[in-house]
Amino acid sequence: MKAPIIKHTVSEVRGRVALWRGGGSSIGLVPTMGALHEGHLSLVREIRKRAEKVVVSIFVNPTQFAPHEDFDKYPRNLDKDVAMLASTDAVDMVFAPSPAEMYPQGFATAVDVAGPSAGLETDFRPHFFRGVATVVSKLLLAVTPDSAVFGEKDYQQLMVVKRLNADLGLPITILGAPIIREADGLAMSSRNAYLGERERKIAGFMNRILTVVAEQVRSGAPIATAEAAGAQGLLQAGFDSVDYVAVRDAETLERIETLERPARVLAAAKIGGTRLIDNMAV
Ligand code: PAF
Repeated sequence: MKAPIIKHTVSEVRGRVALWRGGGSSIGLVPTMGALHEGHLSLVREIRKRAEKVVVSIFVNPTQFAPHEDFDKYPRNLDKDVAMLASTDAVDMVFAPSPAEMYPQGFATAVDVAGPSAGLETDFRPHFFRGVATVVSKLLLAVTPDSAVFGEKDYQQLMVVKRLNADLGLPITILGAPIIREADGLAMSSRNAYLGERERKIAGFMNRILTVVAEQVRSGAPIATAEAAGAQGLLQAGFDSVDYVAVRDAETLERIETLERPARVLAAAKIGGTRLIDNMAV
C-alpha cells in the first residue's frame, strides 16, 4: 500500500510538482469532490497508465452548487477517501484545499464556457458549469499536469472541460474515462448514497431505458419520438420527474435531427430528493 502525501495549499503542491518535473516525471491529475467510489478509482488507474506521478484533488466546490442544492450534506470523509486511494498503489499526492485556499477573500473571477454548456444541465442548474469551469481552471493551473481525466458519467462536464482547455490553450491533455456501473446498470455516483432501498431499485432502470432510446435511434426512429418514449419510460419506472432525455451530437452537444455523426443520449431525472444523471453512446 502506497500512502499518498497530502497537501492543502497551492504553493505546497507547486513545490512538489516542480521537484517531480525536475526529476523528469510526467504528472497526471484526477479532480474529484471526494466521496470516492470505484468509478473514481478507475480514473486513477486510467491516468496512471500515462503519468508517472498521480495527483488526486479532493474539494467540494461551493461555486457549483446553488443555495438550495446539497452542498452542506454532500458526503465528506477525507481519511476514508485517502485510504481508498492508498489501496490503489497508484496515487502520489492528494491535494485537499480549504474553501479559503481556492476562493480567498475578494475572489471575483469566473470562467464562462459557452458552446457545450448550453442547455441540458444548464437548463436546470444554471450556475453549475461556471462553478465547474472556474474550479477546474484553478486546479489545472495549481497542479499544471500533463494530463487530467474526467468521468464520462458527467458527459456534458467533460465536453465543457475539453472546450475550456482548448480555448485557453492549456498544454494539457484532457481524457474521458468510461462510466463504471453497478450490477443492475446504475452509473456509480457519490449521490447514489442518498437513495433509499425502493429508490435504489428504481434508479437501476435509467440505464436500461437509455439503452432502449439509443437502440431506437440507431434503428431509425425519429429522435423526438425516442426522447419522449425515454422520458415516459422513466416516469413509468417510478422516477418522480424527468429533467431531460436528449439525443445530441456527441461532441458539440447540439441538437440533431438525424443520426449522421456520433451521438449521445443524455438524461437527468429525480427520485425523491435525489437527482440522477446518465448517458451513453448512440
Ligand atoms: O465531477 C466532479 O466531481 C466535479 O464537478 C469536479 C470536476 C471535481 C469539479 O469540482
